[in-house]
Amino acid sequence: MSETRSPRRFYIETWGCQMNELDSQRMAGQLMQQGILPTREPEAADIILLNSCSIREKAEQKVYSRIGEYRRFKQHNADLLIGLCGCVAQQEGERALSRVPDLDFVLGPARVGELADVLARRRSGERVVATGFPEARQYDIDAISRQGEYKGMVTLIEGCNKNCTFCIVPKTRGPERSRPLADVLSEVRHLLDYGFQEIELLGQTVNHWREPGGTLDFADLLEAVATLPGLRRLRFVTSYPRDFTPRMVEQVGKHENICPYLHLPVQSGSDPILRRMGRGYTRAQYLDLVAQLQAARPDLALSTDIIVGFPGESEEDFQRTYELIEEVRFSAIFAFKYSPRPGTAAPRLDGQVYDDVASERLQRLFARQETIQEDLNQGLVGKELDVVVTGWGREAGMQTGRTPCHRIVHFATGPEPVELGSVTRVRIDSARAHSLKAERLGAVAALSA
Ligand code: 5AD
Repeated sequence: MSETRSPRRFYIETWGCQMNELDSQRMAGQLMQQGILPTREPEAADIILLNSCSIREKAEQKVYSRIGEYRRFKQHNADLLIGLCGCVAQQEGERALSRVPDLDFVLGPARVGELADVLARRRSGERVVATGFPEARQYDIDAISRQGEYKGMVTLIEGCNKNCTFCIVPKTRGPERSRPLADVLSEVRHLLDYGFQEIELLGQTVNHWREPGGTLDFADLLEAVATLPGLRRLRFVTSYPRDFTPRMVEQVGKHENICPYLHLPVQSGSDPILRRMGRGYTRAQYLDLVAQLQAARPDLALSTDIIVGFPGESEEDFQRTYELIEEVRFSAIFAFKYSPRPGTAAPRLDGQVYDDVASERLQRLFARQETIQEDLNQGLVGKELDVVVTGWGREAGMQTGRTPCHRIVHFATGPEPVELGSVTRVRIDSARAHSLKAERLGAVAALSA
């Protein structure tokens, strides 16, 4: 009997933003093209990829402790390769290889398309560091594994030029680069043909998109994408407040299939702090933009990011942030304690805030937001909404989905479970701060092309 080697397996762990999620799908796709299959068990893998995030120090620490756990598997699998990918990879480069002797390679976010080549080089003995931001990049839309996804993610812009004083992203994802409109449209068409009902456009400052060498901007791109036949739901993250123009606001108001949900990071409600962060807008300008968007789209839900305890933040500054969340009534907030990052300007600012002060402010903010969210969600009870099915619930007979305004819904499936990524109609029965419960009313026919 001839010996057959079982197929090789890979395991990818992903932290951080949607960009990283998509990069993981790209890496999975490349491996599957080589006949290497995914596994859910890291112990069973021959290749482990850790797609890391370095936005805050904690995220960075996590990936190193995970490498520490996984390197032990090498004792019983001499062929196992472990790669550090993502933003910590870009930030650490060579340092990661000297810090962790068992680490096989380091692959930065702008080099994701080179995974197959890096693996081949490793197999011939080299400990590869592939970081930096080459002019020519490999991006193969056919080598993206979208299995098990309910939405199709499409990159619009890579990198960021904003240089906010707290943020490491310009260092880890490099200078901003827009993809040509023709590439974006053909990828979206491809995903619609595949059957995705929801498309999510990605960029660190997605609304700063410009046609390379041309004059079209994000408003034109929205028009072009939203009018593609068969596109049911269009979302985009993350918008930069200062880059929103009246033409973009108009597009959001005009196209029904653009979701009435926007993530619009404010970071702080206090002008002196916004200035120190280098955000380029004032509290009044942010609130004015919110008012324009809400006027264009009365059903609009907004979420935001907030940093508390930024250097120089006084109690009074924090109060301005607290009042801002009361005024806007966001459907969700993502709030964090300030974390000093290497290579950024903010660690050099005076007025560093004590950790216990920042923790207490964060707790107060979350407590207030909890009541706002509960109140907003209660207002949805009794309403009928279309949800995109995102997965299975923890309880038997339950599935989960997202409303057009991106709220999480748990619903009873009824006799037939609903397919991942399809749209079904539900009636909201009850509401809590972070989720809604609903009853399924029946499937909605997909829009015909
Ligand atoms: N410390 C804390 N939070 C940060 N963010 C970015 N950099 C930092 C930092 N140094 C937050 C911002 C951003 C979100 C993705 O992470 O709120 O919008």
